[in-house]
Amino acid sequence: MAELLLAFPNAQDLLPRAQPIDFKLFPDGESYVRIPTDVAGKDVLLAERCWPEQDACLIRLFLAVCQLRAMGARRIRCLVPYLPYARQDKRFLEGEAVSAQTICRLLRLMGCDELITFDCHFLKKEGTFTFAGLRIHNISLARPLLALLKPKASRPLIVSPDVGAAYMVEGEKEKGVMKKVRGGYGRGRRAYRRIARMEARIDVRGRDVILIDDMISTGSTMVKAVRALRRAGARRVLCAASHGLFLSGSLRRLRVAGAADVVVSDSIPSPASRLRLREVWSP
Ligand code: R5P
Repeated sequence: MAELLLAFPNAQDLLPRAQPIDFKLFPDGESYVRIPTDVAGKDVLLAERCWPEQDACLIRLFLAVCQLRAMGARRIRCLVPYLPYARQDKRFLEGEAVSAQTICRLLRLMGCDELITFDCHFLKKEGTFTFAGLRIHNISLARPLLALLKPKASRPLIVSPDVGAAYMVEGEKEKGVMKKVRGGYGRGRRAYRRIARMEARIDVRGRDVILIDDMISTGSTMVKAVRALRRAGARRVLCAASHGLFLSGSLRRLRVAGAADVVVSDSIPSPASRLRLREVWSP
């Protein structure tokens, strides 16, 4: 049976043939969601970008999935290119909410049969997994991202900035993994653990390096990695990541640090989004 395609307005480009979800805001800012068609007995693929305003986007997703289930959809798959809250998949301090688990559990409870996403931070490899009861199909963008940058580099060395992204350089002939040394938590209300330093224990002298990671958020990891590689003698450093959040002006800061190029996917559209998800994945 052909899948019925539905998309929130912010993800219509990912599934161009999808029917749009009827989405509005109530005067107080709460979300109104309506499924515009009969879904009884059908297999449904629903797309939404959960960025920006991750919390509001997730609520809309829960509302839509819950309603699809109530209307009798047979199978519900959700396409969420960047999965928010994926970085708190463990309890580091006593009493911390493990938000990755809660989000996945809620999606499953609402009726989602499978989540399709890209380079999900806590999975750290490609494949199909079950996490907090939710089936997740995780697709890596490493190959298509590297294919965009390799022609721009001479005999490049492919490097991940930490062990978490080491799977993204697997299969490369010339590769390396840097070491990320974390510092303490910052003061105030910002939940962020600083990066004390990045160590490049790889011989990069005179080499073109392509750095690849799952995401660029505040940019601290990439900026510090670019600087460390340049100090270690790399000729040029080009950066790739699946998701470019580019907080705190990090796209600009990367260029200032000496990145010769920066490329990300359009999971989060930005001026660096040169990899179109539509071109690498279709239902
Ligand atoms: C961390 O383990 C991730 O793979 C990324 O390196 C990290 O989330 C990037 O965050 P930021 O840009 O804030 O350093």
